[in-house]
This record gives sequence, structure tokens and C-alpha cells, in this order.
Amino acid sequence: MFQINDNYQKLPGSYLFSTIAKKVAAFSEANPDKSIIRLGIGDVTQPIAPAIIDAMHKAVDEMADVKTFRGYAPDLGYEFLRKAISDNDYKARGCDIEADEIFVSDGAKSDSGNIQEIFSQDNRIAVCDPVYPVYVDSNVMAGRTGTYDAATGMWSNVIYMPCTRENNFVPEFPKETPDMIYLCLPNNPTGTTITKARLQEWVDYANKVGAVIIYDGAYEAYISEDNVAHSIYECEGAKTCAIELKSFSKNAGFTGVRLGYTVVPKELKCGDVSLHGMWARRHGTKFNGAPYIIQRAGEAVYSDAGKAQLKEQIAYYMKNASTIKSGLQEAGFEVYGGVNAPYIWLKTPEQMTSWEFFDYLLEKANVVGTPGSGFGPSGEGYFRLTAFGSYENTVAALDRIKAL
Ligand code: MLT
Repeated sequence: MFQINDNYQKLPGSYLFSTIAKKVAAFSEANPDKSIIRLGIGDVTQPIAPAIIDAMHKAVDEMADVKTFRGYAPDLGYEFLRKAISDNDYKARGCDIEADEIFVSDGAKSDSGNIQEIFSQDNRIAVCDPVYPVYVDSNVMAGRTGTYDAATGMWSNVIYMPCTRENNFVPEFPKETPDMIYLCLPNNPTGTTITKARLQEWVDYANKVGAVIIYDGAYEAYISEDNVAHSIYECEGAKTCAIELKSFSKNAGFTGVRLGYTVVPKELKCGDVSLHGMWARRHGTKFNGAPYIIQRAGEAVYSDAGKAQLKEQIAYYMKNASTIKSGLQEAGFEVYGGVNAPYIWLKTPEQMTSWEFFDYLLEKANVVGTPGSGFGPSGEGYFRLTAFGSYENTVAALDRIKAL
């Protein structure tokens, strides 16, 4: 008789955003006359920039001609894209990351879920609390997290680093020593971030204790302050302790197109073993490369026209962020984030739990957000709104919230 991976049985409930989608669908079915504004999942709404669409059209035409048709993509990514990433995201910022240290994939969500595979099951992970649920859930599936305590919402073998208003949402070094540290900066869900000087301290800490940092930089394009690093490799020593995950979803609207990459520097080793070699082996075995058309679209992100158009798109979303932030402040809410990230993190009013506020907002204002407790126990009493809606919907949502 076959056996299943029992670790899946340990996962509580369904994936956060699936639970929300089901609740919203039920509300919508029961109230067909209500117009719902969705500021829940961080999904983009603006069309892909013209320079990128042009590149995709051109690549589609190439696929129609026997002389330019392409089959399987190289499993680690086309050279033209890996070079564009290395030149623009790294060398232009003074980070010495070579094209062959970049592994192109179908997105940062898959990479952030898959990367734990190359580490021992005995490793202890440390996560910020609240946290993007994929980091914890994928380690649960791998059997690394111990047992779940429903009363506290915590796993026995996970080291939690609470990020609350008391510490300005800046994670502190944990008391117990972790082997793997997940950092998402600028942060999802709190929309806050840390300075480059503080990030350097994390790099020094990881090198000192022999931990690896899994650094999720999906929201890097939204950084507006000068003292914030755009890549962990801006910090000295990061190449011996950090893996960086990047996405094209949030900076270029690729949520439905799917493209991302992971940087594994050659200097990152466990004893004599190169993690670069391990990830190449894993990628080569389990992945057949992101589609040519999509990689050409990714290349266009770095063209002059692409850069200019994406700057406007990011400014559009960040105008939404400041509209949400100032609107909520006017309405008397305690609000965080929204300066270097497209997320606004607010304290729920009148001691409501996160899910109580979710229901209240859905029923009374027909606005969808994300309950903070869905991201971890320290998210209880908080709520996340995304700036990825249209400007009109964002303004309308705020009007409704202010009228409550
Ligand atoms: C979120 O809403 O937290 C993100 O959109 C989820 C994701 O990027 O996978």
C-alpha cells in the first residue's frame, strides 16, 4: 500500500489567498448587487508596458518561422536575459554578480518554495512573524517545522522573529541560532523595510553563525529611500551567506506571465560543496526553462523604453499607496508601510481580530483586504491593503472606508 507525505496532513487549513478567494466568492454569490473592490492579494492590475508587449509580439513571430523557432529553453535561462539581469540589477549597482550565477525561473513563488530542497531536513529555519506563508508552508511539506500548535499558531521547530510596532517591524537576531533565515525586504506583508546598515548586520550575523539567508527581493522596485539596499549583495560578505530571489511580477506586471530568477553565488558553500552546483543540478533535473517569449519580455524590462514605462507604472501604484495611507490616517487608523513597498499595514480598530475586520470591511464597505493573522501570530490585530488596484478603485475603497 502506498504511503503519502504525511507532512501535508500537518498543514492547517488551505493556502491563505485561496481561503480569502473562497470567502469573497461566497459573499459575492450571496450579494450579487454589491460591487466588490479587491485590495487583498498583491496582484497587479495595469497592463504590461508597451515596450514589453512589443518584444513579446516579436518573439511570437519568431516562433512562427522555421529559421527563428525555438524549442526547449536552456534550463538555467537564455544568456541574453541572464546578462541583462547581471548588468542592470547587479553590476550597475556595484554588485559583482555574474550572468552564470543567475538562474531564470517561472517566478519567485516557485523558487521560494523550492529552494529549501537543497538543504538538510535537520536545518532550523527562522522567519519574520508575520511572514509570506510560502516560506513556512514549503518547510512544513518538507518535514522541517515540527508540530503545529493551533492555540498559538506556531510550529515547534520554527524560530519566529516577531516584527511589531514595538520594534518598528525590524526583525531582531533570534535567541536560538538558525541555519536558514528567510528575509523579505521590502517586506510583505508589513510594507516596511530596513536600512542597508541593518541589512549589513544581518549578513555579518549569518556569516558568523554559519547560516544562509534566503533573501526575497520581490518588492525591490518600490524602494524610494536612499538608505535602503536594492540587493543583499550590496552588503559586504553577502556572497558567502545569501541566496537572492527576484520576481518580474511586481516591477513589470508579470503575475500572469510568470518570470523570476534566483541568484546563487559561486562563493556560497557548505564545506567544499557549492550550492550553485546543487541548484543548477536541481534546476536542470526538474525545470525545462522559462518560455522564450517570456524571457524576451523579461529582457525588454531592461531596455530604455521598458525602464521608463515601468518607472511610470511603479509611480502609479505608489500614488495608490500614498492615497491609502493618507486616507486611512485621516480616518483615524494607525498605519505603516507604503513608502518603500506597495503594501499598507494597518492596526485593526476597536480591538477587532484580523478576521473580524476582514468580515466587517467586506460586509460594510465591500472592500477585500488580507487579515494580518493569516501571515502569522504577530499579524493578529493587523490588516493588509495592497496598492496594486486601479487608482479609481483605490479612491473609491478609501471613500467607503472613511464613510464607515
Ligand atoms: C501577496 O499578496 O502576498 C502576493 O501577491 C502573493 C504572491 O506574490 O505570491
